[in-house]
Amino acid sequence: MDGLRQRFLMCRPTYFAVDYAINPWMDPTAPVDTALAVRQWELLRRTYLDLGHQVELIEPLPGLPDMVFAANGATVIDGHAMAVQFRDPQRADEAPAYRSWLERAGFEVSDPKHVNEGEGDVLLVGDHLLAGTGFRTAHAAHARLQETFGYPVVTLHLVDPRFYHLDTALTVLDEQTVAYLPEAFSPGSRAVLRRLFPDAVHATTADAEVLGLNAVSDGRHVVLPEQATGLAGQLRDRGYLTIGVDLSELRKAGGGPKCCTLRLRQGRADR
Ligand code: ARG
Repeated sequence: MDGLRQRFLMCRPTYFAVDYAINPWMDPTAPVDTALAVRQWELLRRTYLDLGHQVELIEPLPGLPDMVFAANGATVIDGHAMAVQFRDPQRADEAPAYRSWLERAGFEVSDPKHVNEGEGDVLLVGDHLLAGTGFRTAHAAHARLQETFGYPVVTLHLVDPRFYHLDTALTVLDEQTVAYLPEAFSPGSRAVLRRLFPDAVHATTADAEVLGLNAVSDGRHVVLPEQATGLAGQLRDRGYLTIGVDLSELRKAGGGPKCCTLRLRQGRADR
């Protein structure tokens, strides 16, 4: 079986930097090599193109060093987009930039009304939306997601500040399968995940600490940080084809491949 051909939105890290700290990965005193970040990001983009995916680009804006993390730009399902509202003022101006790109691309866009950091905290698995809360996206945003998209929303409580967005603690592998770090979730949320996904891949802390769970799957190929060697082995044992990429510079801001990638889901057919 071939993977599903997907349409992505990405933002070149032209102005990438770590100028502020809004998660434990970010150390503004540590050096960052922006040119290397761009080269690593270009390889990620090339990887998607080689897999047959389509990559759209949004123009990066100076003064928005985290804009490279396109997953936080919106949630797009069945041709409908939910705009975002960032928790931190440093990222606030990214929201209208992503919104106007989506409007220009022909998507209908809804207002978030609460803190909502897009696909960073909202993941579609089959016919369920998994929604994270605890650090960024507000619990109140989850009800609005359900109302807007019409998929049942499963609230998951994140408890480890290193895994502050749902997409740093859980990866959607296909319509039925996820991989996650159990320790990143509250006991109740862990029980929910066990109930919904009894066959899930359980990642180790070592793999999660290199942002291994910040992966992008088309159902067959999984693009993940090359440092997550244990997780890659677990996925290969399940029959997935893994492709390691090095995004070590962007990891200094707490982001990996999935953070750099916003899925643009047109309709049910391309889910
Ligand atoms: N520095 C960014 C932040 O803390 C990283 C965002 C990573 N994005 C993601 N989808 N997990 O907001």
